[in-house]
Amino acid sequence: MKLGVNIDHIAVLRQARQINDPIITDALFFCKNAGANMITIHLREDRRHINDKDVKDIISLSPLPVNLECSLNKDIIDIVKTHKPYMATIVPEKREELTTEGGLDLKKFEKEILKTKKILEDEGIIVSLFVDPSNDVIDMCHKLQISNVELHTGKYANIYAMLYGNLGLSSHSIKELELPKEQLKQKLNDTYKAIIASANLSEFYGIKVAAGHGLNYENVKDILKIKNIKELNIGQSIVAKSVFIGLEKAIKKMKKIINETR
Ligand code: PXP
Repeated sequence: MKLGVNIDHIAVLRQARQINDPIITDALFFCKNAGANMITIHLREDRRHINDKDVKDIISLSPLPVNLECSLNKDIIDIVKTHKPYMATIVPEKREELTTEGGLDLKKFEKEILKTKKILEDEGIIVSLFVDPSNDVIDMCHKLQISNVELHTGKYANIYAMLYGNLGLSSHSIKELELPKEQLKQKLNDTYKAIIASANLSEFYGIKVAAGHGLNYENVKDILKIKNIKELNIGQSIVAKSVFIGLEKAIKKMKKIINETR
């Protein structure tokens, strides 16, 4: 199981003061030393954390392959084409969202996805799609001859946090998930099963499967049991942990959990 560490959140901290501290490229070497397998970054259209110079610096300096998350926006795709990361993960993007809330709408954006996929694959970049865990979506990926997908685990993570974490007691409680425990357990089970089914169907079609969003040191354990998921992209929980114990230790702690299960 490969671990991609999403370092956007380090840029979030830098942006809070608009100064070059912390230096984002310093993270690359801590990630490598800690045993991470990939660096993941998201160049958002509003440049709220990672900016164009970060993309250039990170791709040119990284000792690890870089997975660049990007929307279908033409200007963003031109930047991806210029810097040629190892992989580009196409994600949906809404300006007002706090984070990527769902997977790509493959039906609505079919033409744009196919066009972008061709542009990037012609440059030798592996193209992955960030999708909701659903068999219909994976069927569509097969139809579009997609080689790699990343399953969105955000819904699973939110339900998990409301059921077993303290999210429900905080000011960030998710109103629609303020439900009796038994209902939450059922929802978690349904979501987990959808992730398993999507991973298995992808494997059946020969599509490589990653997963990510909202994964942390607890909820990752059940995801690790899904053998057809070969890669995880994790950011928030690792960077949050690193505030107290340092980035290298925080990554090693995640790697230890991964290696104990896989
Ligand atoms: N994968 C994708 C496609 C994402 O957009 C993100 C968030 O930027 C992540 C993984 C990492 O999510 P988190 O920061 O919640 O671990």
